[in-house]
Amino acid sequence: MKSVGFVGWRGMVGSVLLNRMIKENDFSNIIPHFFSTSQSGQNGPIINNTLFKDLKDAYNLNLLQEMDIIITCQGGSYTDSIYPKIRKNNWKGYWIDAASTLRMNNDSVIVLDPINLKVIQNALDSGIKTFVGSNCTVSLMLMALGGLFEQNLIEWISVSTYQAASGAGAKYVIELLKQMGAIYNIVCNDLSNNLSSILDLEKKVITQIQNNNFPLKHFSVPLAGSLIPWIDVDMGNGQSREEWKGQFETNKILGSENKIIIDGTCVRISSIRCHSQSFFIKLNKNLSKKNIEEILINHNKWVDFVPNNMEETICKLTPSAISGTLRIPVGRLRKLSMGNKYFSAFTVGDQLLWGAAEPLRRMLNLLINI
Ligand code: HSE
Repeated sequence: MKSVGFVGWRGMVGSVLLNRMIKENDFSNIIPHFFSTSQSGQNGPIINNTLFKDLKDAYNLNLLQEMDIIITCQGGSYTDSIYPKIRKNNWKGYWIDAASTLRMNNDSVIVLDPINLKVIQNALDSGIKTFVGSNCTVSLMLMALGGLFEQNLIEWISVSTYQAASGAGAKYVIELLKQMGAIYNIVCNDLSNNLSSILDLEKKVITQIQNNNFPLKHFSVPLAGSLIPWIDVDMGNGQSREEWKGQFETNKILGSENKIIIDGTCVRISSIRCHSQSFFIKLNKNLSKKNIEEILINHNKWVDFVPNNMEETICKLTPSAISGTLRIPVGRLRKLSMGNKYFSAFTVGDQLLWGAAEPLRRMLNLLINI
């Protein structure tokens, strides 16, 4: 059995990864070793009633190099500091990473096996040893629209995202909850006596959101009761890095020679762990709505097609409906008035599962079966 080193297993993505691995009984196929960047020597996780004692030091290259596979959800700065050194030392193991640092390197492959298993297999055959999870909106878009990509039917996509706080990290989720609490606290008495007018309530809430004491340490601006139409750094041309990733990561994942054009606006909203996306899509040929629906449904078993009516849309096509599941609902499918090759669609996906941990878990399974 292969020795697998886990780094960053305590964070949000890492914890979701361990839970999925426990659920799928993956630990019975590996010899796990748990590392820590700050608590080596202390106790690690309890997996299937076994306590993993004596965490290993995640900066100790000798210990890391004993692993056949290292899987890290520790973040980009850890990858930046350790990956070049361990490769320079000629370590030939497999490195699986949730961070974006290595994604666009020539010697790495972005993994999402329901979409690019062939690209992954070719990479393994040619000796590639570095496998990186994709940006979450990219993975969730590809899972939702996989059939159209597979059949090369897409000319371009214009996307608007509605991204959860979890995409920014655990401390951002906590800050969002604090913001929500601060809003509620300012009006809770008024809400219980039912006497205040709506405009008085609204004024108190807005004053609270705009108050300097509102919890703003991480987001720096209010998210609860508001939204933030910018995610990640500025690419220098008015596009955010999150928006840039849409096209560049997608084409790398697909290994596509013909570039598919994808652009849009990425927005942070107060969802907890599910990203949603609204697409305007131009196909390269005229397909009926029924035909598009079948292509989407038939691509993978996680797609749940949601008929385009109000009742089913508001019950099935929302973050609250699918949080914590692997379901990928796709709905709001309709032809647009721009012409017969144009249609809209809307999708939701769990940012921590298909958006982060699940593709890594599945890549690990491909490797342990080699
Ligand atoms: N960059 C994404 C976000 C998260 O901020 O929501 C993960 O890919």
